[in-house]
Amino acid sequence: MPIKKAIFPVAGLGTRFLPATKAQPKEMLPVVDKPLIQYAVEEAYAAGVREMIFVTGRHKRPIEDHFDLTYELEVALEQAGKEELLAVVRSVKPDDMECVYVRQAQALGLGHAVLCGRRLVGQDPFAVLLADDLMVGQPPVLAQMVEQYREWRASILAVQEVPPEHTRRYGIVGGTAVNERLLDVTHIVEKPAPQEAPSNLGVAGRYILTAGVFDEILRQPRGVGGEIQLTDGIAGLLRREKVFAYRYAGKRYDCGSKEGFLQANVELALEHPTLGAGFRDYLSQIKL
Ligand code: UTP
Repeated sequence: MPIKKAIFPVAGLGTRFLPATKAQPKEMLPVVDKPLIQYAVEEAYAAGVREMIFVTGRHKRPIEDHFDLTYELEVALEQAGKEELLAVVRSVKPDDMECVYVRQAQALGLGHAVLCGRRLVGQDPFAVLLADDLMVGQPPVLAQMVEQYREWRASILAVQEVPPEHTRRYGIVGGTAVNERLLDVTHIVEKPAPQEAPSNLGVAGRYILTAGVFDEILRQPRGVGGEIQLTDGIAGLLRREKVFAYRYAGKRYDCGSKEGFLQANVELALEHPTLGAGFRDYLSQIKL
């Protein structure tokens, strides 16, 4: 069963990025020249996903507009003969990609947001991508995970090593090693204190989940911060089915935080095919 559907929970309040996120979604913040959500959608597309399910909230209209046809813009670019820009605009939504939207009326937590996509997902395994975690990897991180899914036919969580003092920022997994990159997960805890963390492997914002997780999310009481946590649903799931944690090859930028967002902008600008060289020159002239 290939992974054809992905949920993008984009209904969060983005309080860590105020005031920028007061009236605009954090997922529309651009890293260099592309909004965060577009990086995540491109990653999903590259992994074979064709149905993008956005769980949105108030103030999230710009996301819908971004993936919609921009008729006036396209006509203007066409008439001006700006073929390259026209191709850039059109590539945002390839013809074989479908975008669907469902509202999360209240931001009750990531688990609740994922649950909002239940009817659209149905019984198939699906991906979840948090756009504020910008992932850079070759092959792209979700494609690496789909490869793992093909082999193991079970839920796969992307994990990375985190500094012990940062365990309170992540879901942390514990389990037994299957190989260098894969862990058979036996427990998962949301935002544990360092002394309670089962390991130093924190979940990054990429998941492949089986549909069984929905019932498990429903079964759990409210978790950390009074929120309906995806981590708690996954904890329920792994009592019934295998769940693996996969140490992806690549780099993650936490673009929900101002520091991570700045780092992503600098590093991706340096790598940019047309801007990179000039930007490197510019940085080398700045006195630090
Ligand atoms: P975060 O923990 O980053 O929350 O959510 P947030 O509200 O977006 O940001 P801060 O912490 O206030 O700055 C992780 C992901 O889950 C989504 C967010 O949009 C983000 O992609 N989310 C979270 C929802 O869609 N709904 C929720 O109820 C909570």
